[in-house]
Amino acid sequence: MKQSKVDVLLGLQWGDEGKGKVVDVLTPKYDVVARFQGGPNAGHTLEFEGKKYVLKSIPSGIFQGDKVNIIGNGMVLDATLFKAEAKALEEAGVNLKDRLFISKKAHLILPTHRLLDSALEGAKGTGKVGTTGRGIGPTYTDKVARTGLRVGDLLCPDFEQKYRDARDAHERMLNSLNYDYDLFQAELAWREGIEYMKGFKIIDSEHYINNVLREGKTILCEGAQGTMLDIDFGSYPFVTSSNTVCAGACTGLGIAPCRIGRVFGIMKAYCTRVGGGPFPTELFDADGQMMSDRGHEFGAVTGRRRRCGWVDLVALKYAIQLNGVTDLILMKSDVLDTFSIIKACVEYVMPDGTHTSEFPFNCEGAVPVYEELPGWKTKLDGLHSENEFPEEFNNYISFLEEYLETPVSLISVGPDRNQTIVREK
Ligand code: GDP
Ligand code: IMO
Ligand code: MG
Repeated sequence: MKQSKVDVLLGLQWGDEGKGKVVDVLTPKYDVVARFQGGPNAGHTLEFEGKKYVLKSIPSGIFQGDKVNIIGNGMVLDATLFKAEAKALEEAGVNLKDRLFISKKAHLILPTHRLLDSALEGAKGTGKVGTTGRGIGPTYTDKVARTGLRVGDLLCPDFEQKYRDARDAHERMLNSLNYDYDLFQAELAWREGIEYMKGFKIIDSEHYINNVLREGKTILCEGAQGTMLDIDFGSYPFVTSSNTVCAGACTGLGIAPCRIGRVFGIMKAYCTRVGGGPFPTELFDADGQMMSDRGHEFGAVTGRRRRCGWVDLVALKYAIQLNGVTDLILMKSDVLDTFSIIKACVEYVMPDGTHTSEFPFNCEGAVPVYEELPGWKTKLDGLHSENEFPEEFNNYISFLEEYLETPVSLISVGPDRNQTIVREK
């Protein structure tokens, strides 16, 4: 697979495409791995040597050698969860302190942001977003309202006053929502987290990153969530609160757009979504159940069951266009091993009867039109090279490449680091 100075890897669907696994696999080719948005709403799973790790705020390049990993300015960070995640890694023998850097400009998730997330969701009644409850929306809201606290503020003498002002404002909101809460324990744990976090290198990451590039080194930017959860282009309002698209790597790390080389777009061979919101190809039948069972489709953060459905090429084409995807990465095809027929949505019939293959303003009520392909009925998870692929699987890949006008450069056939096949072209 070709590589350039700055490459971006991101999800093309509704998250959980397998980003963590592929970042881990690609990290040896790069000098630095940097996360550019989101926070502990992410759950990125890595499996190797019989062990499984789920990363939330720490980039997925952390297990490969001594590579530098950066928590970028576009991220939001919860000190309590960060401490738990980092400590667990340190206990597992991963050296973090010298090579995990945190941007001064990343925003802090306060304990009251988490309470607000839950209070605001609770107040919605029907139409809940189904957030991860990690305070993501309220933290980004404060960022945009210019009332947020940043990691760099921890190093300033007036931090305590700033914190109290923010907390008091949040408490007034919680009270106006008649939300019952007890902040004491959460605040205690958070303050411990803050002290622990101060032990890390807190840096001007945009300067660091641009200096790294000046030295001729390479960076892999790691996205979280997926394009269909993007605040601008996702199925609004059932989205997350950050720009998950490629442009988010520029604003979330301080990298100029002209620097971006390859854009690796990750997709599952089917589709999942966790939380509320429209999902045109969602299945409620035995096929959906089979995907859920064979794919172990339960959230890595909240344990919630992920909704499953056929691959949606209307949404994928839109995502590829928005991100300028140069390479597709196809995940979890092994989950479909037992299906005789594989379906792919190529068009929507909208509630007014019109047909479209352009992702619409609102996809609620869109009925998918499917193309059917023969299944491969072969166990893929033990295969090591594309020469071993059954003909039907090759046909499925060619069909995707043709429809999406983008090459598939890497294929994952199981959760382990080794179950990865790079396509030589
Ligand atoms: P991420 O959020 O995009 O990093 O993805 P998640 O970690 O939330 O979800 C992907 C899940 O699929 C994890 O449990 C992975 O271990 C697993 N996984 C990744 N690639 C494959 C694959 O090719 N086949 C199968 N069966 N599982 C995979
Ligand atoms: P990774 O990085 C899947 C979903 C939530 C909810 C919506 C908003 O592991 O792919 P939020 O807590 O962000 O305000 O929730 O977004 N969501 C994800 N779904 N994977 C994720 O991350 C997600 N992060 C948020 O379920 O529908
Ligand atoms: Mg995930």
